Amino acid sequence: MKELVLSKEEIESISAHLGEEISSDLKNEEKTPLLLCVMKGALNFMAELLKNIDIPVLTDYVQLSSYSGVKSTGNIVWKHTLESDIKGRTVIIVEDVVDTGITIEALKKYLNENFAPKRILVCSLFDKINARKVEAKVDYVGKTLAESKFLIGFGLDYYELERNVNYVYVPDESDLEKLDSIIEKDKR
Ligand code: IMP
Ligand code: MG
Repeated sequence: MKELVLSKEEIESISAHLGEEISSDLKNEEKTPLLLCVMKGALNFMAELLKNIDIPVLTDYVQLSSYSGVKSTGNIVWKHTLESDIKGRTVIIVEDVVDTGITIEALKKYLNENFAPKRILVCSLFDKINARKVEAKVDYVGKTLAESKFLIGFGLDYYELERNVNYVYVPDESDLEKLDSIIEKDKR
């Protein structure tokens, strides 16, 4: 049996609370804050979060990864950088999962060194607190996970599949077999 980690309703409720908190924390910023989505995993969460933010915000995205298949490789691969001017602005990085912390810390360092933002905050749907290889703070957490299981659904993928599922789960053997057979079929 697959293990449900967050239902659609739980995701909606978490996003509503986080959106409210962020709106209240950032309502008096001098410059309009910017939400920076880490593609593609955080796309669904970013959209859900944005529905619940009621102050003026800017948005942009980056695409980078330290993942290949189901394991964090520790190597950062850049695919798309941001286009917005974040100088003097508060930036909230929106992530799906903070795991080893490598991606988020590399991104923060890159932004701080190149664009002089006012400050950088991190909002992540999941925080796998016991998987850190580098120190990484998450300012807004959807759900804290003590055990670092591999999750899929709601943006989180298994070889690009299952991003469209509206809940998050830990796949079992039969789920993975089904997904593997889709991957095999696509290769033909
Ligand atoms: P980190 O650099 O190890 O912190 O990895 C963070 C990135 O790995 C996130 O942006 C996720 O996209 C990806 N990731 C971490 N855990 C999972 C997971 O359980 N399922 C899918 N992707 C994950
Ligand atoms: Mg990601």
